[in-house]
Amino acid sequence: MKWLSLSLALAVPTQAALRFGCSTLTIQRLDPLVEPGAAPSAHLHQIVGGNAFNASMDPAQGDLGDKGTCTTCTFSEDFSNYWTAVMFFKHTNGSYKRVPIMQNTALPNGINGGMTIYYTQQDFSSNGNTKITAFKPGFRMTVGTPTAESKFGPGLKFVCLNDKGTRFPELDDFPTQRCPGGIMTVHHFPACWDGKNLDSPDHQSHMYNTVKDAFQNSGPCPASHPVRVPQVAYETLWDTTQFNSMWPSDGSNPFVLSYGDNKGYGTHADYVFGWKGDSLQRAMDSSCMFNACENGNPLLSQGVQQMNACSVSKTVTEDIDSWLPEMPGMSGM
Ligand SMILES: *[C@@H]1O[C@H](CO)[C@@H](O)[C@H](O)[C@H]1NC(C)=O
Ligand SMILES: *[C@@H]1O[C@H](CO)[C@@H](O)[C@H](O)[C@H]1NC(C)=O
Repeated sequence: MKWLSLSLALAVPTQAALRFGCSTLTIQRLDPLVEPGAAPSAHLHQIVGGNAFNASMDPAQGDLGDKGTCTTCTFSEDFSNYWTAVMFFKHTNGSYKRVPIMQNTALPNGINGGMTIYYTQQDFSSNGNTKITAFKPGFRMTVGTPTAESKFGPGLKFVCLNDKGTRFPELDDFPTQRCPGGIMTVHHFPACWDGKNLDSPDHQSHMYNTVKDAFQNSGPCPASHPVRVPQVAYETLWDTTQFNSMWPSDGSNPFVLSYGDNKGYGTHADYVFGWKGDSLQRAMDSSCMFNACENGNPLLSQGVQQMNACSVSKTVTEDIDSWLPEMPGMSGM
């Protein structure tokens, strides 16, 4: 979007903002936060980040940052895990095909699928002179809920891409026309923490959302959740273009998220913190922006080949890539 890149070029960033790619770690029916231990979990997820990811991930088993030996993310001290549901195309003949994930623009070439991860401050380029406190080891949260039947809240968006650089308009649900460049899903997490709980039973009530659309300046944190933490956001680019010739003749949206949602209101995302030591705090206290934070300034980083080489083995082995009679785990839908 033109105004955004223009304002970025002119703005002098006062504090750090991280934007980086993570290639796909695994695509499996695992959901250690909402369904710990379940293999398979109810629906399919795409996961990026550190290789200590597994079905259980009990915080008592230790810090992700200490356990991981590789990560699919640019910043090699980031062993966090980031995940969302997966998109499928539903053919009018009833079969499903998983929609491939493509890398974002503005990232180094060759990244295998995955997501673009953001840790911004009060808005895209400023901390608003508020201290940004990094998450603590063991911290986790979710945003959105698969059962939502209307718009869940701010910051959960779909973008119909003309090309990989399209960012507007942001939609609350699936585009209703063929998108020439694919579909982007965007998940913004809340950035106000209660300062006490690393998690909560619903994985959300320890957080408070002041997020506005499109990385705009969010409101102040309330007294109940006074600690401003980084504004975490995910962008995923789905290559829907191969399906554009197969749209149903009634014009209805043929794309569906892996838990059976063709409206998109249930779009959701999960986060488990796993930065090594004080690396995320050091980044938030610095003044770097995007790839200027790499190469030890102040964060250690790695190249695309190393990112793509990191993976975890499949514990849930099932076909997710053929034309399927149903989405994994979704029999009878
Ligand atoms: C997950 O990994 C931890 C150690 O990192 C291990 O203790 C635990 O048994 C693993 N869980 C599963 C389900 O593999
Ligand atoms: C539906 O169409 C796709 C694409 O042509 C094809 O690969 C698949 O086998 C078809 N499924 C059925 C049940 O005919």
